[in-house]
Amino acid sequence: MSDSYAGKFENSDGVNTASNPHLGEVDSARRQLIGSSLAAVTLLTGSGVAFAAKESAFKTKGELLGFTAVPVSSSDEVVVPPEYDAQVLYRWGDPVGAKLGSPAFKTDASNTWQEQALQAGMHHDGMEYFPLSQNGNRGLLAINHEYTDDGLLHPDGMKNWSAIKVRKAQEAHGVSVIEVERKADGWRVAQNSKYARRITANTMMAISGPAMGHKAMQTSYDPSGTRVLGTLNNCAAGQTPWGTYLTCEENWNGYFSTSSKPTPQEQRYGMRNKGWGYQWHDFDTRFDATVEPNEAHRFGWVVEIDPKDPMQMPVKRTALGRLKHEGATCTRSNDGRAVVYMGDDEKFEYIYKFVSVSKIAKGGFADNKNILDSGTLYVGRFDAKGMGQWLELRQGLNGLTAGNGFATQADVLIQCRAAADTAGATKMDRCEWIAVHPKTGEMFATLTNNNLRGQPGRSADEQVNDANPRADNQMGNILRWQEDGNDAASTTFRWTHFVLAGDPVMAKPEHQGNIKGDIFSCPDGLRFAPNGLLWIQTDISTSVMNQGIYKVFGNNMMLVANPETQEIKRFLTGPSGCELTGISFTPDLRTIFVNIQHPGETASERSDPDKPLAISRWPEGAKAGRPRSATLAIRRKDGGVVGT
Ligand code: FEO
Ligand code: CA
Ligand code: CA
Repeated sequence: MSDSYAGKFENSDGVNTASNPHLGEVDSARRQLIGSSLAAVTLLTGSGVAFAAKESAFKTKGELLGFTAVPVSSSDEVVVPPEYDAQVLYRWGDPVGAKLGSPAFKTDASNTWQEQALQAGMHHDGMEYFPLSQNGNRGLLAINHEYTDDGLLHPDGMKNWSAIKVRKAQEAHGVSVIEVERKADGWRVAQNSKYARRITANTMMAISGPAMGHKAMQTSYDPSGTRVLGTLNNCAAGQTPWGTYLTCEENWNGYFSTSSKPTPQEQRYGMRNKGWGYQWHDFDTRFDATVEPNEAHRFGWVVEIDPKDPMQMPVKRTALGRLKHEGATCTRSNDGRAVVYMGDDEKFEYIYKFVSVSKIAKGGFADNKNILDSGTLYVGRFDAKGMGQWLELRQGLNGLTAGNGFATQADVLIQCRAAADTAGATKMDRCEWIAVHPKTGEMFATLTNNNLRGQPGRSADEQVNDANPRADNQMGNILRWQEDGNDAASTTFRWTHFVLAGDPVMAKPEHQGNIKGDIFSCPDGLRFAPNGLLWIQTDISTSVMNQGIYKVFGNNMMLVANPETQEIKRFLTGPSGCELTGISFTPDLRTIFVNIQHPGETASERSDPDKPLAISRWPEGAKAGRPRSATLAIRRKDGGVVGT
C-alpha cells in the first residue's frame, strides 16, 4: 500500500512510541563467517509438488542483467526494455472467470456489488503463481486486493454514502484466485475455471491457533471466537512449501472507528475515532468498535488459502501474531520445519519470524493442515556490529508475564506489538518485503523509509543505530542477514546492509545512498528469482512523489539486482500515480507477473469521481476508462529468461 493514506495520520497513529528495554550485551563468540552453501533450485508449486528446474536452464539466453536499462519516467505508461513485451492480463473489474458468472466491467464504475464480487478487486498487491503444468504455461495466480479508492469505485464516489456502497467496497477487497494460461497470442485468464474464486471482506473464515476462541476474539455474531467474516488490506503475501497462499492483513486499523477515546491497545495499532475515511462503520456495525470492541482483534493476521480448493475456508493463523502484516516469506529450517519471516510496516516497528513445531510433510495442504498453528514466534533484535538475535515471544519469557498484561499466549499474540516492545526488539525503518536467496539462504528485507529516525525529540531507541543508520531516512534501504549455522531456525544471525537507496547527487549525505547502478528510492516489493537475481519494486508515496527530493525518481519503478556484483539496473517504470507490487515467475523463468497498483492516485485521500482521469488513463489510455490496477505478464521477445 502506498502510505499516502496512512501518511495523512502518521503523527498520531503511524509510529511506535513505546520505549524498549535493553537486554544486555551480545555474545561476541557467536561471530562466524557467513556460509554460502549452494542449495538445489526447487520451485514451490501448488500441490506441494516441486517442479525441479536445472539452474543451467535459466542461463540459456543472455547474460544476467543483459537487458537495456530504462530511464526514469513521468509518463503515464508502462515502460520495459526494448527486448521485452508487457501484456495487461487482469485489471480491476475484469471477470474472475468463475462458473457463477463473468460480469463485464463498466467503465463508469456502475457495476453492482454482486458483480464486483465476481470481478477483480481494486489495488492489486502481493501475488503468487501456482503452476498447473510442468512448463508453467498454465497455472493459478492468487492476487491480493489491498484497498479501495472509493472515488473511483462508485460512479459518484463517496457522495450519497450508503450500505450498498460499503458492500461494494468490501467486495472489492480480499483476494482473487484466477486460472491463467499462455497461448500463441499471449497470456489470458481462463474463463469458467473450476479454481476461479474471489475472497472478500465478507467471506467466512476460520480462526485457528492459540488465540482461537479466546475471550478477546468473541463477538456478538461469533460468540465462539472461531469464525470471522473476511480479510482486509491484504498487502504482501507468501507461498508455503505445501502449496498454499499466505495473504497478510496490513492497515486493517483504518476500517474501524473507536469511541472518542481509543484504548491504549487500540492506539498501539493506530485505531482512531473515525477510522481512515473508509466509513464502513456508518453502515456495518462490525467496524464500530463501540458496538463490537473485539472485532478488531480478528484482523491483523496471516491468512492461509488453498488456491486449488475453491471450497476451502480460509484460515487466520494466530500463532503468527497480530501486526500490520506486510508479507509472509516461507522457507525451511535445516531439519525441515516451516519458517515464516514477516515485517510490520510502520515506522519503528519490528521484524518477526515463526518456526513451526512440526516438520513439513510431503504432499499438499491436507498433509500440513495445522503446521502453522503450533510453533515459536520470535521478534528481531538487530544489535551493533552486524550481530542479531531472535527474541522468543512466549508467555512467561522476556517479560511477557501476567503482571505485564500477558496472562496467556493468546494475549501475547493478540497484542503482539506490545509483546515485542516488552521483549526489547529493535525498532526498524518500516520493513516491507523479505526475500530468501535461493542459493545461500540469506534473507534480504526492504526497509522502505522512516523520516522520523533520529529526529529531535525521538527516544533513544529511535535514534540511528547500526542497522538503521540514517537519520531522516527518506530513501530507504535493503538489509540482509544470514542465520547462524545457515539454519532458518537459528536464534542468532548476522546482518549487513545490501544497499542504501538514494541519489549520489543529492545535497544531503543521508539521501545519497550507495547504489551501484540506477537510482531508486523507497524499496518495497522484493523477490529473488530462482537464478539468484533480486527484483526490487519501489513505493514512493503519492503524497510526496512529485515533490522535493523525490522528483528526480519520477514514477515508481522495478529494478533488478545481481547480489554477487551488487549491480542494479532499472527494468520497468510504471504509469503515473502507481506503485509496483507483486512479483511472481513461471517455473521456466520466461514470464514474470507484476502488479501495477493504484495508477492515477494523487495526494488527496480519495480520487474525485468527477475528475478520475486527472493524472492517469492507464491502462485504457485514450479510451478513457478509469485508471485500473492490473496484473502484467512480461516476457522477453525472444522467449529468454527474464532479467537477462
Ligand atoms: Fe501495503 Fe507496506 O505496503
Ligand atoms: Ca508494500
Ligand atoms: Ca509501501
